[in-house]
Amino acid sequence: MGKLIGHSSLRRQLLGSHRPMQWREFFIIVCTLALVLTYRLGWLDELVLSYQPPESVRLERYMNLGELTYEYEYKKSSINWGMAKLKYPPTKPLAKLPDPDELPPLESLPRIQHVFDKETPEEKQLRDKRRRAVRDLTVKSWEGYRAYAWKKDALLPLTGGFQNQFSGWAATLVDSLDTLWIMGLREEFDEAVAAVAEIDFGNSSTPYVNIFETNIRYLGGLLAAYDLSGREVLLQKAVELGNLIYLGFDTHNRLPVDNISLMAANNSIEGEAEGQSAEWQVVSASPGTLTLELTRLSQITGDNKYYDAVDKLIDVFARGQNKTLVPGLFPMYVSMQQGNVTTGNTFTIAGNADSLYEYLPKMHLLLSQTQERLGQLTRGFLDAAKRHLFFRPMVPGGDDILISGNLNVDEMKKKTLDPETEHLACFIGGTLALAGRMLESEEDVVVGARLTRGCVYAYQAFPTGIMPERLNMIPCESSSRCTWNETKWNEEKKKRYEYKPHLPKGFTTAKDPRYILRPEAIESVFYMWRITGEQEWADAAWDMFESVVRATKTPLGAATVKDVTVSSDKVEQEDFMESFWIAETLKYFYLIFSPPDLISLDRYILNTEAHPFLRPEAS
Ligand SMILES: *[C@@H]1O[C@H](CO)[C@@H](O)[C@H](O)[C@H]1NC(C)=O
Ligand SMILES: *[C@@H]1O[C@H](CO)[C@@H](O)[C@H](O)[C@H]1NC(C)=O
Ligand SMILES: *[C@@H]1O[C@H](CO)[C@@H](O)[C@H](O)[C@H]1NC(C)=O
Ligand SMILES: *[C@@H]1O[C@H](CO)[C@@H](O)[C@H](O)[C@H]1NC(C)=O
Ligand SMILES: *[C@@H]1O[C@H](CO)[C@@H](O)[C@H](O)[C@H]1NC(C)=O
Ligand SMILES: *[C@@H]1O[C@H](CO)[C@@H](O)[C@H](O)[C@H]1NC(C)=O
Repeated sequence: MGKLIGHSSLRRQLLGSHRPMQWREFFIIVCTLALVLTYRLGWLDELVLSYQPPESVRLERYMNLGELTYEYEYKKSSINWGMAKLKYPPTKPLAKLPDPDELPPLESLPRIQHVFDKETPEEKQLRDKRRRAVRDLTVKSWEGYRAYAWKKDALLPLTGGFQNQFSGWAATLVDSLDTLWIMGLREEFDEAVAAVAEIDFGNSSTPYVNIFETNIRYLGGLLAAYDLSGREVLLQKAVELGNLIYLGFDTHNRLPVDNISLMAANNSIEGEAEGQSAEWQVVSASPGTLTLELTRLSQITGDNKYYDAVDKLIDVFARGQNKTLVPGLFPMYVSMQQGNVTTGNTFTIAGNADSLYEYLPKMHLLLSQTQERLGQLTRGFLDAAKRHLFFRPMVPGGDDILISGNLNVDEMKKKTLDPETEHLACFIGGTLALAGRMLESEEDVVVGARLTRGCVYAYQAFPTGIMPERLNMIPCESSSRCTWNETKWNEEKKKRYEYKPHLPKGFTTAKDPRYILRPEAIESVFYMWRITGEQEWADAAWDMFESVVRATKTPLGAATVKDVTVSSDKVEQEDFMESFWIAETLKYFYLIFSPPDLISLDRYILNTEAHPFLRPEAS
C-alpha cells in the first residue's frame, strides 16, 4: 500500500492544468494561498471560532485543507481477523439492511432539534468565550496525553505516566479523534490519524479483548472520525477491528461473548475453527451495546455480515421484553450462553444496563425508523421505566425533579424501589428527550427535562458543584405531593451504613463520593439544550464546567476527584484521566457552546461514547 498523500481537488486544479490561466483560476489560486497561509499561521482557529457557515460547508473546507498538509502510511495489523474460519457460520440469507436507495430523506422524519433563533451579538460573544475555554482545556489535556502517554490507553495526569486498560491500542487517541476534528484541531487530528494507521489489532496487551469497550471506544471512534473526515485509513482500521469483534459472535447460538479469546480467534486462522464460548452471565449492557457500531459498519462498507450478527441479538431482546418480571425492562444480568434475557430480578437503567436502553431509540434512528420492533422496544422500556424506576426525591426547596433508581423483585413478585442512583444513570434524561422527539411524544421530552434537572440539582447541591458517582435520596410520597421533612431525612441518613453527617440536605448517602470525569450529566444537558433551546441548559452547563475545571485540573490535563462532598479547596485527586474525558465530557461541553448546526441531531447519532455517526438517507 503506497502512501496516501493529499489529493485535494484544489491542488489538482493548480498543478494539473496546462491551459493558459483564466481569471477564475487566478482567483482560486489567490484564495487557496490565502487559506493555506491562514492555516499555517494558526489563524484558522480564529476563523473557525468566529465564522460559522453551515456545517456541511465547513466540513468540506476542512477536508480540503487537511489533505494538503499531511501524509501517513497504512500498516496492516499483524493478523487479518477477516481470514478466521467460523465454527458456527450464520444461516443464509443474511439479515438485510433497508435498501440504501429507498431510505426516506432525513427532512421527512420527525425533527429532533429545536429551531433556534438568531442570537444577539452579546449572546454570541458570551457563547464564544465559553466555547474557547472548553477548547483550551481540550488542547491542554490532549497535549498532556501526547507528551506522556502517546499511543497508550490512558494518561496518568498527576505523575505523567500512562496505563493500558483496553488492549493497549491507544484508547485515548482513538477516542479523541472526532473531538479534535470537531474543534478544528487539524494538525493534532492528522498526527493522530497517522498513529491510527499503525495500530496493530493483531496484538493485545491482554489475552482477552473486552468486546463492549472495544466496540464503543475504538470501533465507534474510528467510524465517527471516518464519517466526519472521510479518511480512508480510518475505515480500513475499522474493518480490521470489526472483523475481530465479529468473531465474538462465533458461538453455538451466535449470541456474543463478553471477552473475545484472542488465542481461539488466532487458532481459527491456521487450524480448525475453534469458535468462542459465551459467558453464562453478563451485564445486559455488554451485548446490548454492540448494535449501533456494527450496523454503521455494514452501512458504510455495504457488507451485511456485521448487521446480520446484531439483528439476531435484537430479536432475542424483542422476544424477551414482555416476558421479564417487569415487562418492558430487562434484568441487569442476562445469559448469552442460554439466550436468556428474562430471568433476573434486579432492574436499573444505570450502570450494567444503561446503554442497552440508550441504543434502542438510537438504532431506530440509524435504521431511519423503518423497523417497527425497534419503535416497540423503545416505547416499552420508556413506559416501564417511567412507572417503576423514576422517582421524585424529597428536597428542601421542593424542586420538581426526577431521579432514576433501581428496582428489586422478590420471590413473591413484590417490587421494591431502591432509591439509589449513580452518575451513569444521568444519560437517561437526554435519551428520553431524544426518543420523545423521534416518537413525537412531547410528554417524554418533559420527563427527560425533569430527570436532567435531577442531575443538575445533584451537581449544584454538593460543595464542589459536582455530583458523586453513587448516592441515595428519599422518594416523595407521590410525584405530585412532596413536603420536606427534616426529621425524616436525618433518620434515614443515620440508618445508612455509609453514614456521613455532612451531606447536603436531601441526600442520605454518597456511597461512592468520587467524580471520575464522567460525561452523562452534561450529555443530557446537551440533549435538552439542542432539543428545547431553553437557556437554562446552557447556563447550567457553564456552572458545571467551572466546577469540574476547579476540582479536576492538573498541570497535564484533568484527574479523578476522590471526594466531591468536601469543599473545593480540600479536594484530593487520583492519578487517572479516562479516555472519555476528551471523547465525551469535553465534546458535550464544546457542542453546547457551539452553533447548533455543528453535529446537529437531525444529521448525526452519537454512540454511547459520544461518537457521531452520520444518519443515512438515499443519495
Ligand atoms: C504486542 O504488544 C505488546 C504491548 O502491548 C508489546 O510489548 C509487544 O512487543 C507486541 N508484540 C508484537 C509482536 O508486536
Ligand atoms: C472477562 O475478562 C476479565 C479479565 O480477564 C474478567 O475479569 C471478567 O470476569 C471476564 N468476564 C466474564 C463475563 O467472564
Ligand atoms: C497467533 O498465532 C501465531 C502462530 O501460531 C503466533 O505466532 C502469534 O503469536 C499468535 N498471536 C496471538 C495474538 O495469539
Ligand atoms: C409488549 O407489550 C406492550 C403492551 O401490552 C405492547 O404494546 C408491545 O407491543 C409489546 N412488545 C412486544 C415487543 O411484543
Ligand atoms: C436462564 O433461564 C434458565 C431457565 O430457563 C435459568 O435456570 C437460568 O438461571 C437463567 N439464567 C440467567 C442468567 O438468567
Ligand atoms: C416527618 O417524618 C417523621 C419520621 O419519619 C414522622 O414521624 C413525622 O410524622 C413526619 N412529619 C410530618 C409533618 O409529616
